[in-house]
Amino acid sequence: MEIELLPPSAEAAVIERVTGLVNQVYAESEKGLWQGSTDRTSVDEMTGFVAAGEIAVAFVGGDLAGSVRIQRLDDATGEFGMLAADPARRGLGIGRELVRFAERASRAAGCREMQLELLVPRAWTHPSKQFLAEWYGRLGYRVTHRADLAEDYPHLAPSLATPCDFLIYRKDLG
Ligand SMILES: CC(C)(COP(=O)(O)OP(=O)(O)OC[C@H]1O[C@@H](n2cnc3c(N)ncnc32)[C@H](O)[C@@H]1OP(=O)(O)O)[C@@H](O)C(=O)NCCC(=O)NCCS
Repeated sequence: MEIELLPPSAEAAVIERVTGLVNQVYAESEKGLWQGSTDRTSVDEMTGFVAAGEIAVAFVGGDLAGSVRIQRLDDATGEFGMLAADPARRGLGIGRELVRFAERASRAAGCREMQLELLVPRAWTHPSKQFLAEWYGRLGYRVTHRADLAEDYPHLAPSLATPCDFLIYRKDLG
């Protein structure tokens, strides 16, 4: 497996494949949370993330197998999000290596903490979210914020199909 940050000069075809992977994966992992279209991102938005040097991708045998967005929130805090692994290649360590890559890159950039966000339905258990909550715990992430999504992001509330909580997890990178 090879993991690399996509250069701002990345080909449009690669950006389209990453966008497709993220949307395919999120259609399943956010099933039942949103009304209407479940697209997590668009080629335009992804092009902006790539131009900002925020998208790392994993290749296995030359094929795109996963991706993650890595951001810097402030001098001391990095964040990863839009983590996605090819459904045909789950359980091979692609997700774990992408998280490791994001943490290493943030540490190298001088960050002391890593953050991630998780959306969970309040009234029922979503298997993908349950898996993520347990896995992030095993990786050392702890919940530092929990609120009604409608309170934190009122403009998103009308698009929800079910009440959701918005969680922030943090981990000390030291
Ligand atoms: C989250 C995700 C990227 C993980 O990708 P992956 O490449 O399958 O994950 P890995 O192979 O690195 O395994 C991650 C962990 O899950 C465990 N795991 C993997 N497959 C498993 C399975 N079938 N059953 C139980 N545990 C499993 C691994 O043991 C590992 O745990 P560990 O690090 O404690 O050993 C992938 O499931 C995904 O794309 N999910 C949907 C998108 C999503 O929800 N993204 C996060 C938004 S915040």
